[in-house]
Amino acid sequence: MGERAAEIGGCAEGLVCATPTAVQEDGEALERERDAARSVGIDVQETEHTELPFEPFGALVLPEQAQVQPMSVLGALARQLRERGGKIVEGCRVHDADVGPPSASLTIHTSAGSLTAEHCVLATGTPILDRSLFFAKVEPSRSYVSAHRLLDRSPPQGMYVSVGTPSRSLRTATGFDGEQLLIVGGPSEVVGRANDTTKRIRELDRWTAEQFGNVRRITWWAAQDYRMHSRIPFAGAMPRGGGRIFAATGYNKWGMTNAVAAALAISGEILGGNMEWAKVLREGCMRVSGVTDALAANVEVAKYLVTGWASAEVARESKATAPAEGEGIVVSDGLSPVALSQVDGKVCRLSAVCTHLGGVLRWNTAERSWDCPLHGSRFAADGRLLEGPAVNDLPEAD
Ligand code: FES
Repeated sequence: MGERAAEIGGCAEGLVCATPTAVQEDGEALERERDAARSVGIDVQETEHTELPFEPFGALVLPEQAQVQPMSVLGALARQLRERGGKIVEGCRVHDADVGPPSASLTIHTSAGSLTAEHCVLATGTPILDRSLFFAKVEPSRSYVSAHRLLDRSPPQGMYVSVGTPSRSLRTATGFDGEQLLIVGGPSEVVGRANDTTKRIRELDRWTAEQFGNVRRITWWAAQDYRMHSRIPFAGAMPRGGGRIFAATGYNKWGMTNAVAAALAISGEILGGNMEWAKVLREGCMRVSGVTDALAANVEVAKYLVTGWASAEVARESKATAPAEGEGIVVSDGLSPVALSQVDGKVCRLSAVCTHLGGVLRWNTAERSWDCPLHGSRFAADGRLLEGPAVNDLPEAD
């Protein structure tokens, strides 16, 4: 690895493996991974022996994979941007962009005022501008991850991802005091559709203890990802953006690599380059193969839209309606759904209607947030927007 790479991470083996509970289909999935890798010249090796505390059903090894610390990568990118005269503005939210006539600059509207630009790249998870209906082409999911101290052994040094279910990935990380921690990635679900997200954390705890024995969880978190219904990430000019508004989305948990590909593809398009491989990122989301999935997903979205309003209507608000600490409920004030929550003793009474397109929000028990089951927007218990495609906070209930 070069000096720059050494600054942000290390080198490890990457392994795709089938866990001990694997079934026939998982073995076949592993074979497909092997064949796909070899068909593009990646020299994967099959093995049944790993450093894991259990014998996997089978495994593929990719030698010399880079294991990077994402925050170090981010720091290095920010430093390089500033060295080249770029400016990073934080704490300011983009709400909209006007294209105007072809010869004019774009006008970008933000929470701190408007500015003009020649080009705009939306790298916001799901694109925040609705002009190309991206919110209907991606499925938002949250996946739960935990960091554990292993009390009786050292963490495995390779990076592992399983095929089949339950889905698991393993990494190492260095804790604050220099100790090696095991990072366990696991279950994911469509944003806003789970009844109890805390059970996902319990599930990770249980699996880690079963496999690694005496462990102590240090922390956990969740990450939000987007998958295009076509299964191919998008990076290119947005429809109705005058060829000057670009977006990148649908990395499907492979953001460390897909984001780099998207950046190369979009910068090439802006600067007039012609990279043949980038065509699939521009056009892949139009593929017919994704249409059936998109239709099914949007039928599901419509179902949540209807049931959200109907169930809020049933639960009428009364003076006695008060959620317990850490809980949130949706009730009706007779006119529209109201989100009631109590976090750290603070009771909030907000509109339960998503500021994007009117979905009725649901309480995320683990993260204590209001999540939208339609397109994945999220709001803190006090109404602050956490995640788009919405661009506005939740207002207080009338
Ligand atoms: S995110 Fe689209 S309606 Fe909530």
